[in-house]
Amino acid sequence: MQYDIGPRVLPLCRWIRSDSSLEILTHSGWVAHLQTMPDKINIAQKFSQIHEYWKPYIAGELNGQLVKLDKLKGEFVWHHHENEDEMFLVVKGRFRIEFRDKSVSLEEGEFIVVPRGVEHKPVAEEECWILLFEPASTLNTGNVENEWTLHELDRV
Ligand code: NI
Repeated sequence: MQYDIGPRVLPLCRWIRSDSSLEILTHSGWVAHLQTMPDKINIAQKFSQIHEYWKPYIAGELNGQLVKLDKLKGEFVWHHHENEDEMFLVVKGRFRIEFRDKSVSLEEGEFIVVPRGVEHKPVAEEECWILLFEPASTLNTGNVENEWTLHELDRV
């Protein structure tokens, strides 16, 4: 589809903060997404904007996968993800992931991939910052629906 914009008609543009793309107002509404040059993400700066525990924020996306940042403290809920493998990378602090038959402690700079279908429960004795990398379809509480469940995630 092409839009014929006359020389004296300036298009109305707006930036979409979440992914820094540009939208243009056309006769059919806000439609055109213009790709912009990528910019770097400072993880610590993003974490400084997060003030809740167990509430992942979207910090990036690629190929249908999301990069999420999450602050953990305390115990989460036992759950599994039917269709998604889930990567946890410790950015700051430490936490452990409990499985039904063992527990794995992760230190800063370490990561683990939890395969789909495997029950797990993250536990953080102290505040821990983690980066999650997983398909956009991944629900934070997996097969469990409770007060922690977040169907929509905010961006940071
Ligand atoms: Ni999970």
